[in-house]
Amino acid sequence: MLSKKIEKALNDQIALEGTASFIYLAMASWCDKEGMEGCAQFMYRQSEEEREHMMRLVHYVNEMDSHAIIPAIKQPSKEYDSAQKLFEEVYAHEQKVTNAINKIVALCYETDDYTTLNFLQWYVEEQREEESLMRGILDKIKLIGTGGQSLYYIDKELNKINAAQMAAAQNEEGGAE
Ligand code: FEO
Repeated sequence: MLSKKIEKALNDQIALEGTASFIYLAMASWCDKEGMEGCAQFMYRQSEEEREHMMRLVHYVNEMDSHAIIPAIKQPSKEYDSAQKLFEEVYAHEQKVTNAINKIVALCYETDDYTTLNFLQWYVEEQREEESLMRGILDKIKLIGTGGQSLYYIDKELNKINAAQMAAAQNEEGGAE
């Protein structure tokens, strides 16, 4: 069974991942409405991924004979000022998630919970990848600038990332067979 401290920290993390999933879904919907198909597809996928992150935690907490609590989630913003602002928000949220994971890792050391520490290694690596991905997207957006066709080029860049991620997922599926 998990200690009460770790159980609470993991339940807070469930809420954070669930919130990320909803925020990213709202962002995907906004991109869709604005005709930015590449960005929309990317954010829909990110939203799914965050749900998976939440579910991994839900299953882990329950497997450890503790109780995963499903949170109430506040309605995310419906409108975003620009693609750049949207991705800045995503990057800030990912940094917040990384900090939260790091705090739970520290708590695992404090409480000698090496099982949870081991479970969290996947999240540590995932956060490194996600932060790097979002930083890369923001760098590209800055390079493209805010000229008349900037949205077109940003969306094109996101489509390239979508294609690369889909190819990587297919390779993984092929490798798993
Ligand atoms: Fe699950 Fe991207 O934080």
